[in-house]
Amino acid sequence: MNERPSDRPGVSSGDVSSDDAAASDGAGVAGARVSPSGRPSDPVAPLPSLEVLLGRDQISAKVAELGRRIADDYDGKPLVLLCVLKGSFIFAADLARCIPLPLRVEFLGVKSYGNDSASSGAVQITQDLTRPIENDHVLLVEDIIDTGLTAHFLLELVSARRPKSVRLCSLLHKPSRQEKSVFIDYLGFTIDDYFVVGYGLDYAQTYRNLPDICILPPSLINDE
Ligand code: PRP
Repeated sequence: MNERPSDRPGVSSGDVSSDDAAASDGAGVAGARVSPSGRPSDPVAPLPSLEVLLGRDQISAKVAELGRRIADDYDGKPLVLLCVLKGSFIFAADLARCIPLPLRVEFLGVKSYGNDSASSGAVQITQDLTRPIENDHVLLVEDIIDTGLTAHFLLELVSARRPKSVRLCSLLHKPSRQEKSVFIDYLGFTIDDYFVVGYGLDYAQTYRNLPDICILPPSLINDE
């Protein structure tokens, strides 16, 4: 699904035109370099400037499209949006505002990456649900499906709580690193095997606040 190439190699997308990413100063445009402030080159930026893979306007158009699809599919039924912390906090916040349904937002904290760039393979719950989801329609919201281990684990965990239904929405999918196959009901973009940060995604807890999704080059990755 979602297989029309965007204007940057390495990204497959849905109905996003290259015009969507246009901005007068280049900030947020795929291929541009931006600082955390969003300006293309900021000499006092506290973080290095990074290459943009998916610009903020392209992301926002996709989130709106996903919201419309979800609202159409659930057709007025109440929905529990289950935000998987920490990575999906920005995506879930934006997505929630694009879904015109009676919506409850819940949070589930998990981690599998620690401070490394590769998954440890062991998924840990860092914060459990505070309310039951039995008999609810649940939409699990992830920022990225990489090996698939986290989503696979979470789908089993959520299903065991006996919701009326459970579906998965992910902004990004990196199929090249897949270890567990999971069906993604609502997918934003398929990306190549870049380590990406920004829009909620981190490396060693940093970069989540970047407004665009950027490529972290290997020179900035220091795994122990
Ligand atoms: C990231 C991301 C997903 C998971 C995907 O979480 O938010 O939950 O990894 O990877 P996988 O498909 O290989 O399992 P992470 O463990 O880095 O924690 P975070 O969300 O707090 O950044």
